[in-house]
Amino acid sequence: MSEQPQLLYKHRHVPGINTIDVWMAHGGYENFKKALAMEPDAVIEEVKVSGLRGRGGAGFPTHIKWNAVPKNRDVEHYLIINADEGEPGTAKDRDLMNGLPHLLVEGCLISMHAIRASKCYIYIRGEYIEPWKSVQKAINEAYEKGFCGKNVLGSGLDFDIYTHLGAGAYECGEESALMSSLMGERGMPRMKPPAAPLPMISGAWKRPSVVNNVETVSTLLPIIELGGAKYAEIGYGSPRSRGTKLFSISGHVEKPGVYEIVLGTPFSEVLELCGGVRKGHTLKTYIPGGSSMGFAPPTPLDYPFDYEGIPANTKTLGLGSGGLIVFDETTPIVPITQRLVDFYHHESCGKCTPCREGLNWLHKIYGRIVAGAGKESDIDLIWDICDSIRGKSFCALGEGAIWPVMTSLLLFRDEYLAYIRGGKDAMTDLTTIGL
Ligand SMILES: Cc1cc2nc3c(=O)[nH]c(=O)nc-3n(C[C@H](O)[C@H](O)[C@H](O)COP(=O)(O)O)c2cc1C
Ligand code: SF4
Repeated sequence: MSEQPQLLYKHRHVPGINTIDVWMAHGGYENFKKALAMEPDAVIEEVKVSGLRGRGGAGFPTHIKWNAVPKNRDVEHYLIINADEGEPGTAKDRDLMNGLPHLLVEGCLISMHAIRASKCYIYIRGEYIEPWKSVQKAINEAYEKGFCGKNVLGSGLDFDIYTHLGAGAYECGEESALMSSLMGERGMPRMKPPAAPLPMISGAWKRPSVVNNVETVSTLLPIIELGGAKYAEIGYGSPRSRGTKLFSISGHVEKPGVYEIVLGTPFSEVLELCGGVRKGHTLKTYIPGGSSMGFAPPTPLDYPFDYEGIPANTKTLGLGSGGLIVFDETTPIVPITQRLVDFYHHESCGKCTPCREGLNWLHKIYGRIVAGAGKESDIDLIWDICDSIRGKSFCALGEGAIWPVMTSLLLFRDEYLAYIRGGKDAMTDLTTIGL
């Protein structure tokens, strides 16, 4: 099995690592001091050389976002941390905030320096009470030690970090909806460039704002510690997928959990790391990158698990935010897909017709199929509804909602037919897992 360097999780198992004293005893805040001694643009250059891509789902190169922020300091800049993690199957940001809150706080400080921000808002999913408490305690400790506040470490710079607990809407993870919610408005997405300015020019409160994922800014520590070039040497697959990434692995595996894995590790090894498919069972399908990326066929298994390898080898969208859900042969695909449809239907913000009406329709059709009253024509109807959402929804929620549906139809059409023809009897011999 290939070596899995632990960069983010280096100190994961150290007792008390969530406290600032233990964190500092293990080199905590040294990378912030190192970055603070550098020019902001030099930090951005290290990030560019490292090849870091945003870990929030879209995989957008971090340095491009950061370089788009105006370099002057006369208008206040904001760093906004997206900790609204809510997609079925993802729990990596929760793990990081619970166990290593100073990794996030130090990552925020380095990132704020790079983009010349004096204020950072950490927008945390409403249900994440424990992670919120953990992060808030770490922020308080950082203030006490002088890493936050006015004239930090004599630099002449001010760094303030605030937490903001959301109200539990998945849509508020979309970055423009997140900024609206942060400002006290309805959490609905806004127009994107070219119809509207980039958030890096006019974001929250119309000021230059960068929205980054929890894991993205946490990755700044190993990048500053190793240097961008050394960081970019880590990775087995594509030159565009460098470093390590957190994956939350759930479902029918022996050891579910959050794992730090080198990008490009063969998928078969990723499965081995989490103990493989549960004993006595075989792999039926899996969702490689979070539910909005869709289901993958059980072969091939030896492809590089990274931003380029997943779409090329599984016909699903991609790596997403790294939520790998494994299903063995006992999994009934139709009720599992129904569970996902219901999630997206519930979370649709209702702004645009294709998503609002289309997901409502899918919710009803899946309801009748699972209740044993489906019709064979429902299969084509489901496909047509997905086609009417595809490429026509205002934000990526609508697009993401149809991927598990379309891929389940492509891979398991026969199972849909068996469900519909067999009625309720076809379902009784199958066990299900809770998503
Ligand atoms: C419906 C929806 C939900 C999202 N949820 C999250 C989330 O929980 N966390 C996150 O970091 N990004 C989420 N995103 C992606 C963000 O809009 C944005 O791309 C990301 O926060 C950028 O950070 P990064 O460049 O560091 O990846 C979501 C996007 C959509 C469309
Ligand atoms: S796609 Fe769905 S979640 Fe996104 S704006 Fe339209 S209705 Fe809202």
